[in-house]
Amino acid sequence: MRIIAIVNQKGGCAKTTTAVNLAGCLATDGFHVLVVDIDPQAHATLALGLDPDELDENLYEVLAEPGGGDHLKAIIVEVAENLDIAPSGIVLSALEQKLAAERDETRTERLDNALGALGDIYDFVLIDCPPNVGLLTFNALRATREVIVPLETSRFAIHGVQKLLETIGLLVERIGHEIDVKVLMTLYDGRTRFSRKTLAEVRALFTDMCFDTVIRLNVKLREAAGKGLPICFYAPSANGALDYAALAVEVEASAPADLAAVEIPGAEPPSGPREIVVHFRDADASDVRIAGDFNDWVPDKGVRSLIESDGKGRVWTKVLQLPPGTYQYRYIVDGEWREDPENPAVVTSSVGARNSVMVVR
Ligand SMILES: Nc1ncnc2c1ncn2[C@@H]1O[C@H](COP(=O)(O)OP(=O)(O)OP(=O)(O)O)[C@@H](O)[C@H]1O
Ligand SMILES: [Mg+2]
Repeated sequence: MRIIAIVNQKGGCAKTTTAVNLAGCLATDGFHVLVVDIDPQAHATLALGLDPDELDENLYEVLAEPGGGDHLKAIIVEVAENLDIAPSGIVLSALEQKLAAERDETRTERLDNALGALGDIYDFVLIDCPPNVGLLTFNALRATREVIVPLETSRFAIHGVQKLLETIGLLVERIGHEIDVKVLMTLYDGRTRFSRKTLAEVRALFTDMCFDTVIRLNVKLREAAGKGLPICFYAPSANGALDYAALAVEVEASAPADLAAVEIPGAEPPSGPREIVVHFRDADASDVRIAGDFNDWVPDKGVRSLIESDGKGRVWTKVLQLPPGTYQYRYIVDGEWREDPENPAVVTSSVGARNSVMVVR
């Protein structure tokens, strides 16, 4: 069982979006996943389609008293195949204060004990933390060996990351076990210079600590949360779904050295072709095609094209049929070969060309 806490004291950097959508993608890959919502705002609970006010019990019953851990199984709700949640509720804000006033030694170990009592029924447990490092977050860090720190690339000051990592470092010293911390860049808008600059700076500074996957700005992620569904069920071909699917692949492949990699359960991964829809915007272009290793680099071969206008200019939509795999591609805009301006995943080919990369699950 791999336990991963999603932590950042800064609000609105996509902690909940990451917990819910990474969980959805891991579950569709056949892993048994539990989301633990320890944020009193209960956004993960809502984003998985539950109304916290209508639930009789939540994590309060599990964490409020020593020994409550055995009750975790009883509050877990199944929300989709392979996907369960331990829900939150507003009452958890009182819990933070209750724990702060206690002298009980176990007050920072309650979640760890509760997850321990579950045995080995889950492959992944993802903990959605509140935007502070109080006792609830501390409980999450105690329970975990892995942390994902989402960083909002579109409005982000670089010194904030260092400060946060220092804070986590201090907590880790107090906890007394190693925690593998990885940085995930979120809300990435490739059209702004600021986002591109932040991405480059964070990558230069944190190198191996960064996920290769970057989560692009995608309004479907917000819509999916509103509908109470992970994006892989709500809009499986949207950029948000592709990005979180790529993140799931990275997470599946990257267990910390001393944790055994999680075995892929019996189910064969689906292997038939998928319909992939990509968009290219350019107010001045009059002809846009796509070419990649999927069509032998012959522009628009085997591709269905649509041209629309969205108020800001023309949008070219390309519909591809691709079996699961990783593909390199470029756009040809009025005869000029270009990488995808909205996709930060780029590789340099053997002949020095910069190709965009997409992963089809
Ligand atoms: N890649 C994205 N594209 C567009 N909207 C996004 C994206 N990621 C998150 N959002 C939206 O941004 C808002 C903040 O995201 P989210 O709630 O996941 O942040 P958070 O870090 O959990 O916030 P909090 O600190 O309050 O718990 C939400 O409305 C969410 O739908
Ligand atoms: Mg949140």
